[in-house]
Amino acid sequence: MDPITYTTDLTHDDWQEMKSTLAADDFDNGRTPDQLRQSFANSYVAVVAYDGPRIVGTARALADGVCNAYVVDVWTLSSHRRRGIATRMMSLLLSRLDGHHVYLFSDDRADFYKTLGFEPQPEGLSKVVGQWLRPRT
Ligand SMILES: CC(C)(COP(=O)(O)OP(=O)(O)OC[C@H]1O[C@@H](n2cnc3c(N)ncnc32)[C@H](O)[C@@H]1OP(=O)(O)O)[C@@H](O)C(=O)NCCC(=O)NCCS
Repeated sequence: MDPITYTTDLTHDDWQEMKSTLAADDFDNGRTPDQLRQSFANSYVAVVAYDGPRIVGTARALADGVCNAYVVDVWTLSSHRRRGIATRMMSLLLSRLDGHHVYLFSDDRADFYKTLGFEPQPEGLSKVVGQWLRPRT
């Protein structure tokens, strides 16, 4: 079994492959390959995990560099779960977020985040502004 490698340098990532892999693993939220590229490029820090040449995990954080951050797109390929990959990706993100209050939202994976010291919050609110994924003009 190949060792898993992790990179925060996403300059050469294949966004079409990421889109296809996410879709095949039922974790596609509708972004085009170029929208995926923009999402990751505009993040404060992002990480992609590879098994050989194959993308097997993603995680990224939006942050102000001072006090507030928000973690999104945490995903490990189904065939590779429970091997510590998401834990390592989160560790790489958090190592760049010293001093930040880090928020995230989870439908049904709170158990994973609790292993990293995250605590449930009393209430979360959200809103989509305009149309979800509205193309930029
Ligand atoms: C949540 C997710 C990212 C975890 O990825 P992972 O690489 O399997 O996580 P890890 O191997 O680092 O798990 C570390 C620990 O978290 C806990 N954990 C992880 N997945 C869990 C699950 N499904 N149920 C309960 N505990 C879980 C376990 O304590 C685990 O340690 P263990 O395997 O020694 O018991 C992965 O299940 C996933 O991609 N799910 C679908 C996408 C998703 O829901 N992402 C989160 C969006 S907020």
